Amino acid sequence: RIGFVRGAFVPLREAVLPVMDRGFLFGDGVYEVTAVIEGRLVDNDHHLQRLNRSLGEIGIANPFSTGKWTEIETEIMRRNELRNGLIYIQVSRGVAERAFQYAEGLEPTVVMFPQFSKVQSNPIIETGARIITVPDLRWARRDIKSTSLLAQVMAKHAVKQAGVKEAWMLDGDIITEGASSTAFIVTRGNELVTRNLSRDILPGITRRTVLEIAKRHGLTIVERPFSKAEVLEASEAFYTSASTIAVPVIEMDGVCVGGGVPGPVFRSLYDAYLQDVM
Ligand code: PDD
Repeated sequence: RIGFVRGAFVPLREAVLPVMDRGFLFGDGVYEVTAVIEGRLVDNDHHLQRLNRSLGEIGIANPFSTGKWTEIETEIMRRNELRNGLIYIQVSRGVAERAFQYAEGLEPTVVMFPQFSKVQSNPIIETGARIITVPDLRWARRDIKSTSLLAQVMAKHAVKQAGVKEAWMLDGDIITEGASSTAFIVTRGNELVTRNLSRDILPGITRRTVLEIAKRHGLTIVERPFSKAEVLEASEAFYTSASTIAVPVIEMDGVCVGGGVPGPVFRSLYDAYLQDVM
């Protein structure tokens, strides 16, 4: 695999970073994950806008213009013959002596690489996913796509041990979001519900597009927090992310959700999403 590391295209196996990088020492950086489907970057401008926002919120100057980011992404696709998969972007504050305080004007460290995975034909779409809930142990600025991901690493380890696909994180009885996805339910009254944007969740790019499609389809959308009990009563539940598009939930913490099969609202949104990007 060819990545883009500190200004150059290099074989990833040979790429090295200084150990004094603040991304390594402090998790002082942000990231993005963009899907590539049939050779096309999906929702890329929105991902790059969110990257710009994350950088701004932690006071790192965006090293590249949207055009330049896209040019590098396109070159990564070309050099790796990437038609289906993901492009990962990480920007850390830079290299400096280890100290919590940072000097202004450090040169940000940019690391980018492709991941090969077939985003759009995941068999879980047909069968549905079993998930668990875990306490949301994250910090209070979850709207920033920070590379400090210890709480999510712990959540995903619980996922692996439970033999399920994802964890939805709980703040008391309320679902915040998935460990790496946005949570949705469809109520018995046929409302599509997902948590409103705030500092409590990541503003998902797939969330944004799915809501746009739902609006076009005339669905009633309600953006508000919902509880674990509401998930268990819902007629459907699903989660979205760049790496999975959307995945239907059929069981949570061992209890059947939405009749135990992927639902029709999920299916129509999923199909419409694919149609939009292909
Ligand atoms: N994760 N919420 C969290 C906590 C996430 O980490 C992600 C994405 C999402 C969905 O956002 P989007 O639709 O923009 O991908 C929501 C990425 C895929 C990751 O960490 O790999």
